[in-house]
Order: sequence, then C-alpha cells, then structure tokens
Amino acid sequence: MHVATPVVLSPMAGVTNWPFRVICESYGPDGLYVAEMITARALVARNPKALRLCRFAPGEKIRSLQLYGVNPAIVEQAAKIVIDENMADHVDLNFGCPVPKVTRRGGGSALPWKTDLFREIIQRVVKVCDAANVPVTAKIRVGIDHEHETFLEAGHIAQEEGCKAVTLHARTTAEYYGGHSDWSRIGELVGALDIPVFGNGDVWGANDALAMVSETGCAGVAIGRGCQGRPWLFADIKNAFAGSDERIDPALGDVCTVIERHAQLLTEFYDGDERMAVHDLRKHVAWYLKGFPVGGSTRRAFMECENLEDVRREIGKLDPDIRFPERVVDKPRGRVRFAKKVHLPYGWLESRETTHAERQALFGDDPMDASY
Ligand SMILES: Cc1cc2nc3c(=O)[nH]c(=O)nc-3n(C[C@H](O)[C@H](O)[C@H](O)COP(=O)(O)O)c2cc1C
Repeated sequence: MHVATPVVLSPMAGVTNWPFRVICESYGPDGLYVAEMITARALVARNPKALRLCRFAPGEKIRSLQLYGVNPAIVEQAAKIVIDENMADHVDLNFGCPVPKVTRRGGGSALPWKTDLFREIIQRVVKVCDAANVPVTAKIRVGIDHEHETFLEAGHIAQEEGCKAVTLHARTTAEYYGGHSDWSRIGELVGALDIPVFGNGDVWGANDALAMVSETGCAGVAIGRGCQGRPWLFADIKNAFAGSDERIDPALGDVCTVIERHAQLLTEFYDGDERMAVHDLRKHVAWYLKGFPVGGSTRRAFMECENLEDVRREIGKLDPDIRFPERVVDKPRGRVRFAKKVHLPYGWLESRETTHAERQALFGDDPMDASY
C-alpha cells in the first residue's frame, strides 16, 4: 500500500472519526488517515458505539482502523470481524496508549513489556489479515520509562511477525504527553529495522515534518495534536514534501466555514442527531478558535450550542476577516502534561513474559472502552 505524501493522521480517540478524517483528507488527498482505536472486545460484542467508530465515509480512499486489546484471542476475533465483513483496508494495532485505565490492565504502551503477549497478538492478527491482503502495522512508544525501554525489541518482533510498518511515538508511558518526543529514538529504530518506520510526536508544522524525516530517515510522519483545529496542516505538509513553500493561512471566516462543515458531517455521523453532533464539535471549536481574539463569552456560547442553527448563529457573530494568529501557527497544541504515575498490573515489571496467573488475571475482564 502506497501513499504519495508520507503523512499519517495519527489515531486519536474522540477526534479522528470520519467527519474529521474527511476534512483532513480534503486538504491532503494522498496520505493515510487512521480511525481512532476500537476496543477489540467492544467490536466482538458488537457494541453500537464501537461499530459507529468503524464507519467510513464513501470518499475515504484507504479505510484504516486501529484495534486495541490485551487478550490475543479477542483481538484475533475482532480482526476476523474486520476481515470477514470487509470493514477496512489497513489494520493498525495500538501499543502506545499511556492512559492509566488502559495500562493498569496491561494494555497499550504497557503491553510490549510482555514480549510473549505482544508477539502473540501481532501473530494472530497478521495471520487473519494476511489472508485478505490487509496490511497490519503497530504503533508503539519508547517504553514504559527509560529504565524499561521496549521499542527496539518491539520493533523487531513486529517485523518478524509480519507487520508492514511501525509507528514510534518517541515518548515513554511515564512521559505521557509532556516534554519532547525524542526523535533520535526514531532514528535508532529506522537503523534497526528493514520495514518502514513512521515517526511520531511533536510535528506542529510542515517544516517539523521535513525535519523529522531528514533527521531520522523515517519513512513518513504521523500527526496527532498538530492538526487539532488545523486540518489544513495536511495541505501544508503535502506542499512541503513537494518542495513548495506554500502554506495555508486562513482567516477566521475560512475557519468558520470548516467549523460549519464539520458540524454538518458530525450530524451525519450521528445519524441526524444535531445535539450529539454539536456536543462532539465542542472540543474542536475550542481548537479551531485557539489564539483568535474572540472573547470568553463567544467561546462559552459555542459550548452551549444544542443544534446546527445555534452553531450558525454564533458563527454569524464573528468577524470573518480576522487573520489566523501568528503566535499559534506551528506551535504545540492539545495536551502536554507528564503522567502523574504509571499504572501497571501488580508485579508487571518483574518478568518479560506473562505467567499463567497473570494471563488469567488480565483476561478476566477486558475494558469495554478507554478514552485518552
Ligand atoms: C486526544 C488524543 C487521543 C489519542 N488517541 C489515540 C488512539 O486512539 N490511538 C493511538 O494509537 N494513539 C492515540 N493518541 C496518540 C496520538 O496518536 C499520537 O501518538 C500522540 O498524540 C503524539 O503525537 P503528536 O505529538 O503529533 O500529538 C491520542 C492522542 C490524543 C492527544
């Protein structure tokens, strides 16, 4: 599977549903746009919320889903559903989530520490997906903390077991979203593996994307928070990789056109439920308006919208000619804090392979969902 621009919309729970993906893809029609993580157990149980997250818009060129789970048998079953029901063209596996609710159960970024479990999940999913020619990739972090790094070993296992690429978010679980993504680790992984490595973490502007590729030799860049409220970043990145300096510099009126479109698409996503749509839109509006000189009362008014008409009314009150604020262009956005503490299952760090008792304790009650 090839994409002309080496850019990936990194999966973000609560963010990268199809309305947001469609908007991002409209700016950079030749990247890879990944849906948010789907809890394998929820998919297997055919939980309606999970099924909604698996939907794609008709125009999406590559249907890319991310699965999350701890129990290899359940993740395999989820992959079978995806394949048997032709739900995706690409499956990514989440081994990067740092949220306590997830790592406390041995999931996300805690999982590669247990090499047997990590290997088994990949092995089973690759077997199912290979039969349908659907590529599998893995998304990992550097490790749990700097005393417990896992990325090199995890990268090798992923490669051995047939992953077609690996994405490295170059922070540890303990670093959460604080500090900096240490791109030198991406370079290390590129040097260690034969399969493509996507670099991830702290790409806030198109020049960061170029810098990450030139500093690390990575095959492409995965963008998370940098496109929150700035989906046109994908156009900037496409231009940058094509050697052009052209960047999108939207005025508030242009941003409002995107907000309105986003609201409409979310309404479709929620099957016509405008209330759910505009509630989902709230966080996006906060991101879209970041840095613009619009007052607290305007922001609050958006947070109180209950339908599309309310959103349009608030948009109508804004001055369309205000330029995009220079000071937030290509700057960090979204969450940026360190973890208070890494939560792991009892005794997790004592061995690199799961014991029988650990497996029993882990698989007894998988989480139905997890939010970042
Ligand atoms: C709100 C939010 C939700 C996220 N959800 C997911 C997810 O579902 N799956 C995943 O692999 N990573 C998830 N991530 C991590 C991002 O994909 C990405 O790895 C991380 O934000 C670092 O990249 P950035 O510096 O470009 O934001 C999430 C991050 C944020 C901020």
